[in-house]
Amino acid sequence: MSFSPTSILVTGGAGFIGSNFIHSFSANNPACRITNLDALTYAGNLKNLTAIADNARYRFVKGDIGDAALVSELLTQEKVDAVVHFAAESHVDRSITGPEIFIRTNVLGSQILLEESRKHWQAGIVADFRFLQISTDEVYGSLGDSGYFTEETPLAANSPYSASKAGADLLVRAYHETFGMPTLNTRCSNNYGPYHFPEKLIPLMIHNIINKRPLPVYGDGLNIRDWLHVGDHAAAIEVVLKTACPGSVYNIGGNNEWKNIDIVNLVCDLLDARLHRVAGENRKLITFVKDRPGHDRRYAIDASRLKRDLGWEPAYTFESGITETIDWYLAHQEWVADVTSGAYRTYYENQYGGRS
Ligand code: NAD
Ligand code: TYD
Repeated sequence: MSFSPTSILVTGGAGFIGSNFIHSFSANNPACRITNLDALTYAGNLKNLTAIADNARYRFVKGDIGDAALVSELLTQEKVDAVVHFAAESHVDRSITGPEIFIRTNVLGSQILLEESRKHWQAGIVADFRFLQISTDEVYGSLGDSGYFTEETPLAANSPYSASKAGADLLVRAYHETFGMPTLNTRCSNNYGPYHFPEKLIPLMIHNIINKRPLPVYGDGLNIRDWLHVGDHAAAIEVVLKTACPGSVYNIGGNNEWKNIDIVNLVCDLLDARLHRVAGENRKLITFVKDRPGHDRRYAIDASRLKRDLGWEPAYTFESGITETIDWYLAHQEWVADVTSGAYRTYYENQYGGRS
């Protein structure tokens, strides 16, 4: 199966993974138009995209995936032949304190995007079409000490975040089964890398270490996550978009399981050296705190289908990826300061003067 998109609509492209994807996809596909629809919530940051802002083939539109008229207009105007859907509320802890927005964006917003995409695809304006839903391994729930999530693992989401993603995944499946819409669905493990919002584990720890603040480790610190560099994720998405059969689901993972406490210790030690601190100094900042309610114990992805069918494998080793990530944060302290102070929120108005 081979598909060459000419105009893609990326949703949530000002966030962590979406912005990394836009950079790599535009470099690999210079002739393809990219329209980035993003509501610029607290997680959306146009400073992630300054390198591409003036590219004639790139267009940023501030707006909500739940705005049917806007989505429809963009699909028609740009003759979009692929939607790559990243836009979401993405932080588990926020979904526990305020689940409503997760349902509104991740479930209802995704349904509106799907429905407008269905109408656009059925109107026959474009020769071929794909709708790619970017999802998470968290839809499968939690594993014990052994075993892996495969694409056949039943959905058993445990947090409001993962439940909302599972809801959208099932809608995507339904649009394929019911209307024959050419959908794709990827489910990825935890990402790390540049432009990661410092509320998530790895960038939060880097930021707090630099500033000598406590490092909050939830519960006993023995929960396990399977880490993948965001650059590898972006590459896998491109492969799936161009070569996967419509209707298929692919897990994306890096075979890279870490206990939280081990990863925090590693980041502490790497930063001891980088910041010229005494060995072991940063580990003293570790503070065990009350556990997250419903905290999934272990995630681990079996990505063998993606390797077997489409030949994708991660290129980063964890050693190279985490070192590069730490160095990126050290070199981009202005970006971090902007995000933590909230200054990035005014960037859109300053750059675009309120226009999209
Ligand atoms: P993020 O929180 O960094 O970015 C989300 C982006 O979506 C932001 O730019 C935000 O402004 C935008 N957005 C939110 N609501 C919107 C709306 N209603 N309309 C338009 N735009 C809206 O998230 P991320 O970490 O980049 O994750 C991207 C996708 O990948 C999500 O769907 C997430 O579920 C999935 N995912 C993330 C990870 C991870 O480790 N971060 C792992 C697997 C899957
Ligand atoms: P997170 O980055 O929020 O991703 P997710 O919950 O989607 O996996 O958290 C990764 C792991 O780190 C998770 O087990 C919760 C834990 N964690 C902490 O121990 N302390 C923290 O401050 C954060 C944000 C997460």
